[in-house]
Amino acid sequence: MENETLIYLKNKLNGFVPDTAIVLGSGLGNFTELMKDPIIIPYADIPNAPKPTIKGHQGRLCAGVIGKHNVICLQGRTHLYEGMDPHVIMASTQQLKDLGVKRFIATNAAGSLRVDLPAGSLMLIEDHINFSGKNPLIGAHPAPYFPDMSVAYDLEMRQKMQAIAQRENIPLYSGVYIMALGPNYETPAEVRMFRSFGADAVGMSTVPEIITAVHANMKALGISVIANLGAGLGDEHLDHDDVVKTVAEAGQKLSYLLQKFLEEE
Ligand code: HPA
Repeated sequence: MENETLIYLKNKLNGFVPDTAIVLGSGLGNFTELMKDPIIIPYADIPNAPKPTIKGHQGRLCAGVIGKHNVICLQGRTHLYEGMDPHVIMASTQQLKDLGVKRFIATNAAGSLRVDLPAGSLMLIEDHINFSGKNPLIGAHPAPYFPDMSVAYDLEMRQKMQAIAQRENIPLYSGVYIMALGPNYETPAEVRMFRSFGADAVGMSTVPEIITAVHANMKALGISVIANLGAGLGDEHLDHDDVVKTVAEAGQKLSYLLQKFLEEE
């Protein structure tokens, strides 16, 4: 049965069937300018939708064509550190699936856990570690149960993205993303621990979204914009304004890569 949210979205989309959803992390705010005549739906208008509480996160859904694809961009996401029930993330992913989305792309800002992965780099997520202590699949949820996560980040999409990056001469690292619940940045001891776990970058989002996308049988891809070196690896203090500036610059490169990605089948 279609719920109120789905009915509302289908009505607004007016026959537009998205195949790709992209969650735009900080720094990618103007990516939607690539869409001609987008359908814009503020989260505030969507029945039962979570409203982001963080300043600078716009909170709206933009639907339109980019390249060869019908795309839904989510400008602004909800983070678990906002106090949101993780089930909310599952509901949002399920709505996207019900609208027709088959490919789910998450972008985010993250801290580097390696000095050879400097601020301003882009990292394709090859795998993740859920260190949030939370999981959107806890409790009653639709089948499948115990979803397989052995290749959570779709290999074909990753290879395509790597090939485009190489062709376009944009360095694209590959690594493991670990999710910390936040909202504080890590301590140097936590950064050392995460490195010893085998992670390359740390952030406060994406993992619950990818879990729900894999659960919903979508092809998932994730890319991190490295905003800063993790605490203790550089000599600066971690300052949110610096993070925003670095991310905005590297975000341009990521926007370009995503645009080229969408120009392919
Ligand atoms: N840690 C966690 N999340 C982040 C960081 C960080 O250093 N930088 C940007 N998002």
